[in-house]
Amino acid sequence: MSHSLRDLVRQDLGIGLGLRTAHYADILGKKPKVDWFEILSENYMHTGGRPVHVLDEVAARYPVVMHGVSMNIGSTDPLDRAYLRELKALQQRCGARWISDHICWTGVDGKNLHDLLPLPYTKPALRHLIERVRAVQDMLEQPLVLENPSTYLQFTGEDFDEPQFLQELTAATGCGLLMDVNNVFVCASNHGFDAEDYLRRVPWDHVVYFHLAGHTVYETHRLDTHDHPVCPEVWRLYALAHRLSGGRSTLLEWDANIPDFATTHREAKKALKYRTAKAPRGKAGPTQRPAVVHS
Ligand SMILES: [Fe+2]
Repeated sequence: MSHSLRDLVRQDLGIGLGLRTAHYADILGKKPKVDWFEILSENYMHTGGRPVHVLDEVAARYPVVMHGVSMNIGSTDPLDRAYLRELKALQQRCGARWISDHICWTGVDGKNLHDLLPLPYTKPALRHLIERVRAVQDMLEQPLVLENPSTYLQFTGEDFDEPQFLQELTAATGCGLLMDVNNVFVCASNHGFDAEDYLRRVPWDHVVYFHLAGHTVYETHRLDTHDHPVCPEVWRLYALAHRLSGGRSTLLEWDANIPDFATTHREAKKALKYRTAKAPRGKAGPTQRPAVVHS
């Protein structure tokens, strides 16, 4: 297992899937050809029995990476060192290539709000996040990989836009990035910025892997629901991201209304046609808020 960011960035594991309970039987019974799996870390912490047995079986056959939702890296609460120790123990058990979470906060005063809440992109928030990312990396003894969030509001008085914030954060900490292309599109649409311009300013030498997912379109905004196929605009953005990055491990997230395993795997493998030099070059980034309601 490598712990250097340079090595993580170089590892293109191919096209992966989120490991979901609905697919356990297919994965264990049919042993499908999947390049790698991402696990939701918290699903395998403080538990035993079937989930951990399944994880052991999967980890014996496929590369695995860990993705969490409870690090609360942006909060003003003290870092949860017991949680971090559990993360590290889980990684040792399953041999995960890296550990990721989100640029967000999820609670304060010991309360978990069970949502990925946005940080203001200000200098004080950046300093706070840098200090905590360094502390986590010291404890985990590896680069932390952090995901750009889907957001539904912007703060007044910000010092940076998101690409600038990511540039500053990665330069100061050496952390990795998980670039969720769907999140870029959702935010670009909700906030009215150019998604292609965003991607051109990403610090690609820190990007370890991509997320792809579907979302829901409402009259006033797009919501990151992970319950639809990937939309054409996100596929085109992914093609651009692939060219700009030179290629990274790519994972399809599907977390609600999950189709059967074969359908999910087919959707993920669509990424292959965008991972070529001749990937489509159409305009991908919305600059207007959505006007169409799909559901
Ligand atoms: Fe994601």
